Amino acid sequence: MPSLAVLRQIANELLTTERAQRFTEPDLVMESAEQVAAYTRAGREDGVMAPVYLYNASHVLEIIKPGDKVLDLACGPATQLALVARMAPECSFTGVDLSREMLARAQAHVEDQKLANVGFIHSSIAQLASIEDQSIDAVMSTMALHHLPELATLEATFKEINRVLKPGGGIYLADFGHLKSERSIRYFAYQYADRQPEIFTVDYLNSLRAAFSLSDFRKAGEQIQGRAQVYSTFMVPYMVALKSARRQATTPELESRLRAVWQEMPSNHKRDFADLKTFFLLGGLRSKLI
Ligand SMILES: C[S@@+](CC[C@H](N)C(=O)[O-])C[C@H]1O[C@@H](n2cnc3c(N)ncnc32)[C@H](O)[C@@H]1O
Repeated sequence: MPSLAVLRQIANELLTTERAQRFTEPDLVMESAEQVAAYTRAGREDGVMAPVYLYNASHVLEIIKPGDKVLDLACGPATQLALVARMAPECSFTGVDLSREMLARAQAHVEDQKLANVGFIHSSIAQLASIEDQSIDAVMSTMALHHLPELATLEATFKEINRVLKPGGGIYLADFGHLKSERSIRYFAYQYADRQPEIFTVDYLNSLRAAFSLSDFRKAGEQIQGRAQVYSTFMVPYMVALKSARRQATTPELESRLRAVWQEMPSNHKRDFADLKTFFLLGGLRSKLI
């Protein structure tokens, strides 16, 4: 059951007449060493982002299958990518990012984890020039699309996804959705301020302000020509996801790999995971794996 404070914010969002403006991220490409370090820390297995990463992994694992070539668009420090790659050793993954600082972190992370199935390329996700048409089996992207400057760039990115993906390929894209009221944006940004470095809280606030609206995602989603459905968290599109049909059957091994990560989580992370799962489930999005 979500906390009273969260329920109050939902009521505020539903009743507000405000339409908070979208502000683009001050750092579209994350090159500052301090900011990259804070983001990396918040995302590692025990950081505040851990429940979101596990949740996303449960969906990505449904849209890939053994032998696939998978792209992770705007992979950042590869926390999400490494989690998925560890659970899907029979797939090969390429992380794409425009920040060399992030790619250095990402490379170090996969080396630390001894993952032989992950490589990286330095490129804009809106122009995947080095990737051939219909050469990719699945595309994932998490918590990153809000870094794109405008709707036209989001549309260009989706067009590229459509170009590089093979027919019947898998898609899972998840990101924040734009909230109507600045009060809700601030509430969610500062919700965990006591558990994380201030620079991450500020980064989080900027992310929520830069998020695209659900209708932006629907509009840009036209570029992928019905290959994925658009979902959002129930009533308030705090998070939005585009997911294609499942391509891999649920197996006990996959289930137990995800469950093992869940079991290691502290109780506050388990609660956040349960809230995210419930709000997306009520919005129609479900993973059969967890
Ligand atoms: C908030 S991080 C998300 C990282 C990762 N996907 C995750 O789930 O933790 C956003 C990333 O997008 C990258 N980025 C921003 N604009 C980009 C672009 N046009 N092309 C490629 N990467 C971009 C930034 O450098 C940063 O690493």
